[in-house]
Amino acid sequence: MPWQEWVGDKTVVEPSIYAADLSRLGDQVEALLDAGARIFHVDIGDGRFIEEITIGPIVVRSLAPLVHGRGGVLDCHLMVAEPGRQLAKVKEAGGDSVTFHVEAVEDVQVTVASARALGLGVGLALNPSTPVVAALAAADAVDLVLCMSVHPGLSGQAFMPEALPRVAQLRRLLPQEVLVQVDGGISLENARAVREAGARLLVAGSAVFWQEDPVASYQALVAEAEAGVP
Ligand code: DX5
Ligand code: ZN
Repeated sequence: MPWQEWVGDKTVVEPSIYAADLSRLGDQVEALLDAGARIFHVDIGDGRFIEEITIGPIVVRSLAPLVHGRGGVLDCHLMVAEPGRQLAKVKEAGGDSVTFHVEAVEDVQVTVASARALGLGVGLALNPSTPVVAALAAADAVDLVLCMSVHPGLSGQAFMPEALPRVAQLRRLLPQEVLVQVDGGISLENARAVREAGARLLVAGSAVFWQEDPVASYQALVAEAEAGVP
């Protein structure tokens, strides 16, 4: 299970490059690598599962040498219909892990097995309205469960507070080695509470990249999340 090696016992803030200034993506990622970030969140959206067409494997391919060269990881959040069709392309481009939505597949187990066969890390994502039990059937086979705290689509949306009890519930129900990840509206105001609820992986887009100093904002989020370590 690669995620255990990547995370250890740390709390991780994952910059979401969807919110970056794409004209300066390499520089921004490099500055965050210098500040200690090692897991970068890549939002792949297809205009079908979500309305937005976001970024795709060609961006993964461009970033992979820089991120891998520094011992980093590209964590790809597939907000796409039929995610099984994208797995090999994401892997081939240099993706290290894929998280697909349970709402987007007919058979979760089959897609998990396909991702594993390619040597990818695997996560299951839950939209805010999807019952948390939807993640349990395949929980033994995955590295993480992503609890969305916004409706997937755009960076910069407000955190939905009802995500907190869902995170706590997932933490109680999932095997201990399966990580809980939260994505959407993470900020200095809620990072500690999200960590306290049991999430170890905090995705942050606008709270990093839409700030005047993305590196300082990343560091402040890490400190705030770590303050929530039980
Ligand atoms: C949106 C994406 C998120 C997004 C997070 O649905 O899945 O990863 O980039 O951005 P913020 O942190 O601004 O909500
Ligand atoms: Zn995401």
